[in-house]
Amino acid sequence: MTTTTFWILETQRTAYSLGVSPAGRLIHTYWGPKLPYREDYPIPQESREWASFNHPEQLTPEEYPAYGDYKFIDPCLKVTFPDGTRDLVLRFDHAEQDAQQLQIVLKDTHYALNVVLIYQVHPSLDLITRSIRLENQTDAPITVERVFSAQWHVPQGDGYHLSHLTGRWIDEWHLQREPIYQGIKRIESRRLTTSHHHQPWFAIDRGHADEDRGEVWFGVLEWSGNWQIAIESDIFHRTRVNIGVNDWDFALRLASGERYTTPPSTAGYTEHGFGEASRLLHDYIRTEILPHGTIPHQVLYNSWEATLFNVDVQSQGDLAEIAAAMGVELFVMDDGWFHGRSFDHAGLGDWWPNHTKFPDGLAPLIERVNGLGMDFGLWVEPEMVNPDSDLYRAHPDWVIHFPSRDRTEARNQLILNFARLDVQEYILDQMDRLLRDHRIAFIKWDMNRNVSQPGWQTEEHDPREIWIRYVEGVYRVWGILRERHPQVIWQSCSGGGGRADLGILRYADQIWVSDNTEAAARLGIQWGFSQVFPANTMEAWVTDWNQRQLSLTFRFHVSMCGALGIGGHLINWSKSDRDLAARLIALYKAIRPVVQLGDQYRLLRQTGFYAVQYLGKDRQNGVLFLFRTHAPHPTETPRLYLRGLDPNARYQIEGFDQIRSGLAWMRDGLQADLSDDFSSAVYRITRVNG
Ligand code: DGJ
Repeated sequence: MTTTTFWILETQRTAYSLGVSPAGRLIHTYWGPKLPYREDYPIPQESREWASFNHPEQLTPEEYPAYGDYKFIDPCLKVTFPDGTRDLVLRFDHAEQDAQQLQIVLKDTHYALNVVLIYQVHPSLDLITRSIRLENQTDAPITVERVFSAQWHVPQGDGYHLSHLTGRWIDEWHLQREPIYQGIKRIESRRLTTSHHHQPWFAIDRGHADEDRGEVWFGVLEWSGNWQIAIESDIFHRTRVNIGVNDWDFALRLASGERYTTPPSTAGYTEHGFGEASRLLHDYIRTEILPHGTIPHQVLYNSWEATLFNVDVQSQGDLAEIAAAMGVELFVMDDGWFHGRSFDHAGLGDWWPNHTKFPDGLAPLIERVNGLGMDFGLWVEPEMVNPDSDLYRAHPDWVIHFPSRDRTEARNQLILNFARLDVQEYILDQMDRLLRDHRIAFIKWDMNRNVSQPGWQTEEHDPREIWIRYVEGVYRVWGILRERHPQVIWQSCSGGGGRADLGILRYADQIWVSDNTEAAARLGIQWGFSQVFPANTMEAWVTDWNQRQLSLTFRFHVSMCGALGIGGHLINWSKSDRDLAARLIALYKAIRPVVQLGDQYRLLRQTGFYAVQYLGKDRQNGVLFLFRTHAPHPTETPRLYLRGLDPNARYQIEGFDQIRSGLAWMRDGLQADLSDDFSSAVYRITRVNG
């Protein structure tokens, strides 16, 4: 073995290097801006021995450290071999490379277990995607107790800060930033969904990055199940990020000849702060993850907050009339339409129309909606079942449970075990029939509880595999439905933002971000959401929450920062409200391409004020939103400095007389005046040619 086995993964502006040490270990050597010369990149070397307590394997930055050898760092991979050996010693075997992918194969020095590290570079996005494939080539099953997707290394040093997102139901997406101290910081989900509580996203900076400046290393896990991110920082000034499927209550039985591939983790580096990190992820999501990422979403109406479970032909038809007159393009009927459903205690599982509410089925309503010029959408919650349902009475064993224990209900519901093929096939059939029999353009796929007491009676698998097999089952069902009904737009909802991640976005087109639709609160929620996700994935409704304090215009402006939807009770809206809504919807349609598909710049968040700018990719048109919530009087509206404009081009900003260069708007900025609390403004930005 020589030290010449070495790779530099280059993107447009960054480089990531790794190589094989003389001892055969795969070593991470560099991640940051592209360096001028090949010889600039550090050669893979073993660290020297410090003491009997810290051998080279402890100190050498292994690219994908397994539990084994004489080392004690938080490993990426932990297995038990059939003879009980729990020591995994990985050494380089060979590598394969083509234009798309690099695969580096590590092998255990004794047992025939291959660990394949897979790399894919996204040159124009400055991102790298990694995953791991395990191949059991022994003749007996291996128990895998942990298999993360990647370990990401930031340069040796101190003073790093971690940004991450926290929340809870109805209050998601709080952006947190904290120093990284020596030790391990773990964020995770143990709820089977991604969860409202944390996001599988991290951003690490050197302690002084802001929206526009500073080095940021950031990444995500593309997975909708239990996940973990563990940031370990040690006395040797090394900081490593482990990311992958959570190993809590986890075991995978890898049979002889079997392979398992982890979900991908994608990460990147930028010198241009958190704003650029977000924009790179936004572009990645739109161009490489989303099924319809470059088509703007329709303005929708959703019935939930207006009629709750009381949906019927009349109530929905009345709402649809008003929505259509305002310019809404898609009418979505939420919960309550199916067999046995009048409240949340019954019906889930029985996915055919409720004959009392819809005596002639859904067709008359859909025809009416279509006749008004709108598409029709429907809410479903396919993974759930109420004990009071025909499905549960027929198949009580289909739910996740331990036979000797009570089945804990949440919102009166139990969970169908999507790890089971018969469950998948049944739901596939039900959903397929719904979509075949009706003109449905949009499905909101909801999930209103988390998975607990994860009992699964299976011979084929280790029952603890439920945490991954369930998610794979959901992906399978959703994927087949997408293939069969490619015209349908799908929304991922889990009581709001409980299932928002890049894994689900390969199947869903957008996310219901939060059940909190109070527009002032939504500003912070949207700020956090935008760290990871682009505006076209952010469904945002204008509702009646806090309407005494928040004007309709303010509520619209907040929702216009994403994929605009309406969720208020339109029957109660006055004529002037409806006329105003129609004007704002028309304005939204004009700015929709830049909001949903352009670059987003978070300009300002300080006591009482938020400002967000969107700019088309060609830098011809943009839009600026400014919000004032509550600020002590008198307060001067903060000056705004635009971003991303062509410095030498001339731009007009609506509401400002002067035509100025992009550089002037960016460096000298503009002074708006929002003197009232809970007021807002929207300014269109237009490039003036000539
Ligand atoms: C939770 C969702 O977040 C709401 O928007 C609504 O669809 C309800 N479920 C319906 O039960």
